[in-house]
Amino acid sequence: MKDDLLIAPSILSADFGKLSEEAKRLEDAGADMIHVDIMDGHFVPNLTMGPKAVEAINRSTDLFLDVHLMIYNPYDYIERFVESGADRITFHFEAIENIEETIDYIHKCGCEAGIAFRPDTTYEFIPKFLGKCDLILLMTVQPGFGGQKFMDDVLEKVRFTKALKDRVKVKKKFSKHHKDDLIDIQVDGGINLETGRLSAEAGANVLVSGTHLFTQDDMRSAINDLRHCKR
Ligand code: DX5
Ligand code: ZN
Repeated sequence: MKDDLLIAPSILSADFGKLSEEAKRLEDAGADMIHVDIMDGHFVPNLTMGPKAVEAINRSTDLFLDVHLMIYNPYDYIERFVESGADRITFHFEAIENIEETIDYIHKCGCEAGIAFRPDTTYEFIPKFLGKCDLILLMTVQPGFGGQKFMDDVLEKVRFTKALKDRVKVKKKFSKHHKDDLIDIQVDGGINLETGRLSAEAGANVLVSGTHLFTQDDMRSAINDLRHCKR
């Protein structure tokens, strides 16, 4: 169904001692994709993983890999992440100048392309890229760490993007996911049942969640509950 929410567990909250098993566990529990956070210690004050880890995750699951680059010079790393199994590469608007060139290159490599916006980046830039990429990621925390508190003032930006999506019926430029050919609106940071519901009501259709999902006893019901958080 077109209205379905897509659930993207963030593997940042998994046990890094057994990434492959964790990826398989998410697949078995019904996740729609795996969100993989890549941080470089410069664009954000934290370091996570690189292409080798993405490759290991990819080997253990058929799930769509949603790679979120929180790094400077994302253009230079596109090929490596594509070779490692990324199905979508999302990079930050604030990390690069040649945005359109970067989107085109991601598409040329056979991948979906997303643009991420920090919570404090004004939304006046969003319309310019809507018809060119496949996903808009609106960060609901400052990028860099899991376990932060959801910033609800970002909901206004979600509503703004959703209104544009509906008005223009913005199609993805390139689509790997069969469920929806309209552009995706993703939220990331502090998502639980309550903030997921607020985000979905505002118009987000892809919910990233790390801490919340990984602290529930039963991953399958946690994913299912989040998918149905919108009443
Ligand atoms: C933060 C990352 C998020 C993070 C979300 O910079 O982009 O994907 O893992 O984690 P929670 O759900 O714990 O906020
Ligand atoms: Zn992320």
